[in-house]
Amino acid sequence: KDSLDYLANKAGKRYLGTAIQAYQLADPKYTQILESQFNAITPENEMKWEVVEPTEGNFDFSGTDKASTSHEIVAEAKKTGSLVRGHNICWDSQTPSWVTSITDPTRLKQVLKNHIQGVLGRYKNDLEYFDIVNEPLNEDGTYKSNVWYNVLGESYIETALRFAHEVAPEMKLCINDYNIETVNAKSKGMAKVAANLLAKNAPLHCIGFESHFIGGLTPQDIPASMKQFSALGLEVPITELDVRIPVGANDQPANATVAKQRDDGYYTAVSACLGDSLCPGVSIWQFADPTSWIPGVFKGYGSALIYDAEYQPKSSYYATQQAL
Ligand code: XIL
Repeated sequence: KDSLDYLANKAGKRYLGTAIQAYQLADPKYTQILESQFNAITPENEMKWEVVEPTEGNFDFSGTDKASTSHEIVAEAKKTGSLVRGHNICWDSQTPSWVTSITDPTRLKQVLKNHIQGVLGRYKNDLEYFDIVNEPLNEDGTYKSNVWYNVLGESYIETALRFAHEVAPEMKLCINDYNIETVNAKSKGMAKVAANLLAKNAPLHCIGFESHFIGGLTPQDIPASMKQFSALGLEVPITELDVRIPVGANDQPANATVAKQRDDGYYTAVSACLGDSLCPGVSIWQFADPTSWIPGVFKGYGSALIYDAEYQPKSSYYATQQAL
């Protein structure tokens, strides 16, 4: 046995996970890899506010587009014994305008409570983790402007965590962010936020390290950054790993950057997780290049994942295996 999930489990009961979209479950080649290599799943979009509660009070877990449903993802995870990371509740993106236009704090809190009851109430026995708050900080460590912060102030995080914990007392509740994988102003800011929440006894259990890296520029001090949180007793999962590299017109990277992606990318990140006893696992943000979000968002970059367009494992796959 040398599958990623098997090796991750052997390396201290960790998971190796991936983000998926529900429509992909219809592709047997995709599902075969999903089921044989991974033991954790994150719905890439299917649990986001705009999908689940597009209009007030109308929860839609099957989706108007039946292929795009959080429901099928949870069923798939149950079938294969994978854990599920729910994603997400409070964010500045993919949140419908009926929510982002609210200006009255009392009403916004009520809407938040209702949404959390709807989503976590439904899935409280199916999900192990939930990114309750997504990307709350600016690069300098201050709070990002979004409807939550602007209307409720910094206490929105505590409020959301408490609502969630009330509904799903067993679920591990995370704050998830990017550019906190190194010791910098943002991760230090996050450490303060986390310490303040814990001092108030807020139900915060984990800080997700998104880990959208660039080959050759992966932070070398991930362990030190993790320590800022694990020293507080918080788990530090790697939640959205991908390592992008420059690609040409044919989507092909240069060999030199592929080597960087392998060594100063996947190997570094996965090793960092194994080096911290409070890192429960690594989730990759999709596993095969054609369905990665990277080319659409970071122009000129791609090839960020561990399988190619033919579903063949790449050197980044073997680096992951080696690190485990
Ligand atoms: C991305 C998805 O991958 C895309 O399909 C979608 O269009 C936009 O969102 N940080 C996050 C994820 O927390 O939710 C984002 O996912 C990627 C960045």
